[in-house]
Amino acid sequence: MDRKIPDTLHVDAFQMRFADVAAVDLEQLHALSIAVGWPHRAEDWQYLRELGHGFVALDDIDRVMGSAMWFPHGEHFATLGMLITSPRLQTNGTAKWLMQRVLAECAGMSLRLNATRAARRLYRSLDFVAQRPVFQCQGMARKPAETEELQSGYEVRQLRASDLDAVIAFDGSGFAVSRPVHLTRLFESSLCYGLFRDEKLSAYSMSRAFGRGHVLGPVAALSVEEAIAVARPHVEAHAGHFLRVDTHFETGPFASFVQQCGLPIFDTVTTMTLGEGVDYGIAGEGRAVLFALASQSMG
Ligand SMILES: CC(C)(COP(=O)(O)OP(=O)(O)OC[C@H]1O[C@@H](n2cnc3c(N)ncnc32)[C@H](O)[C@@H]1OP(=O)(O)O)[C@@H](O)C(=O)NCCC(=O)NCCS
Repeated sequence: MDRKIPDTLHVDAFQMRFADVAAVDLEQLHALSIAVGWPHRAEDWQYLRELGHGFVALDDIDRVMGSAMWFPHGEHFATLGMLITSPRLQTNGTAKWLMQRVLAECAGMSLRLNATRAARRLYRSLDFVAQRPVFQCQGMARKPAETEELQSGYEVRQLRASDLDAVIAFDGSGFAVSRPVHLTRLFESSLCYGLFRDEKLSAYSMSRAFGRGHVLGPVAALSVEEAIAVARPHVEAHAGHFLRVDTHFETGPFASFVQQCGLPIFDTVTTMTLGEGVDYGIAGEGRAVLFALASQSMG
């Protein structure tokens, strides 16, 4: 560990110390995110703990007063998330202390995160650069309007385990790096569809239980029409229930589709990066674009 980061921090009457996020009671983590109005269930925290690493700030009597996590995607890149400080301790330096510890653990890696308004200044002070907004869209899903039939040669169907390698290869250009571990785990816990043209994947989508209902993401496709074609069956499956989509698209056909499905913009965060080559990929010949994120923490 970087010696410049103190092991303890005095905040008001509290003395805080670091502990591994994996070692604390799940219910304490759940209570922390509820305290800042986040929708995560205890199961969602557990899911994140299985995929990532992190620290919590514990006070003298072992209460969890803050958290910060990172999710490695290979050796050189990680996404950061779950940065929370208990409301009664905010603006006293706790988040900065946690972030400095996480940055020391991730030394040498390029990093990406999705920053809330409250956290943007902190990340800027740590040299993160704002790239683009993310629109958190959510609501009671409505069955989307019918559209034209798919062109001949195209088929939308549920993904099978044998499709996973193709999904991993397809996804990398949109996400910025290959993320086999996360996609495998998401695949196990999600409803997954693929769009195939002559048996070749040209879009995929996943949805899973999260927070107040379900989240639709990731969605990656070669074109917006194909993204909508693989998003549609999830909206149909969750019609009448709470659904969330995190997307970089505020306008255009994908954004219109999301709005028409009863999912207006609820909040906006900002994708920020530190290091080279880790922004989301841009559209290009044969390259997948990420239309919806798996989550704000995992990107
Ligand atoms: C964002 C959050 C983690 C900040 O925690 P914190 O412990 O108050 O942060 P710190 O005291 O370490 O402050 C770090 C910097 O952010 C600034 N800051 C803190 N809260 C702020 C706010 N609400 N608005 C603007 N700036 C803020 C501080 O002034 C400080 O800036 P400085 O280093 O230039 O002095 C906390 O407000 C929180 O948990 N919010 C809800 C969850 C959330 O949005 N998490 C971020 C996810 S990306």
